[in-house]
Order: sequence, then structure tokens, then C-alpha cells
Amino acid sequence: MKIGRVVISAEEIDAKLREMGEQITRDYEGSDLLLIGILKGAFVVMADLARHIDLPVEFDFMAVSSYGSATKSSGVVRILKDLDQEIEGRDVLIVEDIVDTGLTLHYLLKNLSVRRPKSLSLAALLIKDGVERPPLDVKYEGFHIPPAFVVGYGLDFDGKFRNLPYVAEMEASDDAG
Ligand code: IMP
Ligand code: MG
Repeated sequence: MKIGRVVISAEEIDAKLREMGEQITRDYEGSDLLLIGILKGAFVVMADLARHIDLPVEFDFMAVSSYGSATKSSGVVRILKDLDQEIEGRDVLIVEDIVDTGLTLHYLLKNLSVRRPKSLSLAALLIKDGVERPPLDVKYEGFHIPPAFVVGYGLDFDGKFRNLPYVAEMEASDDAG
């Protein structure tokens, strides 16, 4: 496998995150917003989106696993690291890199809503089209992309390529190996 076509450029991502950040700034004015990044993939989006939010936000992270090293969802979500803090009564915004099957966010919404936050919303940089998934209300969404496997901007293939500043498709190498 190697890096293929660039699906979304670094410039496009930056412009979109700026828009999303400005919208979030307007929507949460006067509130004590807590951003929850879903590790590992969301760490890049989280860092760049947050710098476009002009509010005294706080940060927390959860690590979940829905993929092994393969490119298909197992449908199993495991919490590898839980939040450090309570979210009861807080305005909470979950930040994700990509919505594919939606299983991860579906599970997290259920898991976190039990902790009685004041509000619980979703932001995701990428939404894969053409995938069947449970209904999911993504309040802040970046780009809709075709249902191919992508890497970069936090997204990995077998643990690699998260540091690419753009989003690209993976494609089979010419040589059989
Ligand atoms: P979902 O539960 O199927 O929506 O998958 C969510 C997680 O799977 C994301 O947070 C990513 O970590 C991973 N994922 C889904 N699609 C891709 C992809 O195209 N490339 C890399 N990781 C992906
Ligand atoms: Mg992820």
C-alpha cells in the first residue's frame, strides 16, 4: 500500500477548521466548553480546530479502539483511556477525525450521556458517504468524502501517516509485495 490521490489539501482543511471554529465560538459564547478529543486520530484536528475557537475552552481526551491494523471496522469499541474529569453539568463537544460506520461515536454518545452533561455535541472533520450507519447528529462537520480508506491529518494506516498535513487515499502498490 502507498499514498494515493490527495482528497483534501492542507489549505482546504485549514479554511474549513477556521469556519467550524468560528461557528463553535458563536454557539458556545459565555459557556464553559469542554472539548473531548478521541485518540489517537483526533489529536491533529483537535489542536488545529481549538486554535480557531476564541473561548476559554478546556481539553480532555478519550482513547478508544475500533480498528486493529486492518482497514475495516470490527464493530467493537473498547475504552483504552477514559476521561480525566467529570462532565456532569458541562457543555461537551466531542471532536473526531472521521465518521465511518459511526459505531465509535454512537457508543461514545451513549456512554457519555449517562454522565449527565449539560449538552453533548459532535464535531468531525470527515464524514464518509455511502456507508450505512445508525443516525448520528454531527453538529459541526468538515467534509463529506467517498467511502475509500484515507490517511493523513491524524488518520493512520497500520499506525503510520498520521502526520501528513493533508488527507489522501491509500492505494495498492504496483509491485505485488
Ligand atoms: P467508525 O466507528 O467506523 O465510525 O470509525 C471511527 C474510527 O475508525 C475513526 O476514528 C478512525 O480512527 C477509524 N477510521 C475510519 N475510517 C478510516 C479511514 O479511512 N482511515 C483511517 N482510519 C479510519
Ligand atoms: Mg479514531
